[in-house]
Amino acid sequence: MAHEVRGVIARGKGQPVSLETVVVPDPGPGEALVAVQACGVCHTDLHYREGGINDDFPFLLGHEAAGVVEAVGEGVTDVAPGDFVILNWRAVCGACRACLRGRPWYCFNTHNATQKMTLADGTPLSPALGIGAFAEKTLVAAGQCTKVDPSASPVAVGLLGCGVMAGLGAAINTGGVTRGDSVAVIGCGGVGDAAIAGAHLAGATTIIAVDVDDTKLEWARRFGATHTVNSRETDPVEAIRELTGGFGADVVIEAVGRPETYRQAFYARDLAGTVVLVGVPTPEMTLELPLLDVFGRGGALKSSWYGDCLPSRDFPMLVSLYQQGRLDLDAFVTETIALEDVEAAFEKMHHGEVLRSVVVL
Ligand SMILES: NC(=O)c1ccc[n+]([C@@H]2O[C@H](COP(=O)([O-])OP(=O)(O)OC[C@H]3O[C@@H](n4cnc5c(N)ncnc54)[C@H](O)[C@@H]3O)[C@@H](O)[C@H]2O)c1
Ligand SMILES: [Zn+2]
Ligand SMILES: [Zn+2]
Repeated sequence: MAHEVRGVIARGKGQPVSLETVVVPDPGPGEALVAVQACGVCHTDLHYREGGINDDFPFLLGHEAAGVVEAVGEGVTDVAPGDFVILNWRAVCGACRACLRGRPWYCFNTHNATQKMTLADGTPLSPALGIGAFAEKTLVAAGQCTKVDPSASPVAVGLLGCGVMAGLGAAINTGGVTRGDSVAVIGCGGVGDAAIAGAHLAGATTIIAVDVDDTKLEWARRFGATHTVNSRETDPVEAIRELTGGFGADVVIEAVGRPETYRQAFYARDLAGTVVLVGVPTPEMTLELPLLDVFGRGGALKSSWYGDCLPSRDFPMLVSLYQQGRLDLDAFVTETIALEDVEAAFEKMHHGEVLRSVVVL
């Protein structure tokens, strides 16, 4: 039996999204059907709509979600109907070269549902990050469902499904931030603020938030920023050096995804420091740096895919920190909205008015 639900579709590059009927198949072997309860609006959804990820239109957007498993297909044993889950885009395969070397957080062959969700006329949909959760129900690989404490709020913990995990992990997992570190975060949206929260959790003593928007900088303080820099008014490289004894930060996290902010990150770190790129660039962007500076400044230039997270390890742990009051996930939620409001939420995101709009179903 297939299920007809409403979902948010991006039909073409730059076109406003539309709310349409989506046909969701019953789960086949290894798949799970999930009733979505909440799904955050992430900048990556907007990248999809703008054609910045790939050209596989139409997309079923939404990928930062929590919900309840409604049905599972043959062979699924890890989750069962009724389980409260956060959806992840890293269902590790256990068999690729990364998994076999004991680094499953890099898994190069992550699982998604095999069957396609379609429009009413049968056109197959590309679900954003293999999820597609701006819909009342979605079909995923069972491994994309991570069971967590059902007493947690879906609006808050769904954010761990993408942006907040990406930011926290960029600081803690990829950047290896530890006690006493100085950290700068360039771009303080949902991802950047999560990186700030991660640096704070890990014990960084100086945490510098950089953005072009004063409201964002004010919000960044709530997550643990000790200093803020408006890079429209002040040279952020100079400012970060000044705030770190003239040297630069131990770890600089770029959470915008642009060459100019990457360059700032590159020069704002101390010798032998670490740059973490978590912002996602678009295909036409290029970067030129003096190779001598790459050598001479030493350290590590890293990219963070999904915060190098392992959902089964990290989601339950972070939900627990949230419930203990040590990780304020509620502070990321600027507004809750309905499915029909996603286009308006993109507009607000574009104008920097929100940290996270969360669709509640
Ligand atoms: N690597 C991953 O796994 C991963 C996961 C999720 C999102 N992302 C990416 O992270 C980035 C941020 O996502 P988000 O949801 O926080 O977006 P967002 O739009 O909420 O935040 C971006 C922030 O950057 C600021 N900004 C824009 N231009 C700037 C500049 N020149 N200098 C300083 N700040 C600037 C904006 O004011 C805003 O506060 C996006 O590129 C998104 O695609 C990456
Ligand atoms: Zn693998
Ligand atoms: Zn995302």
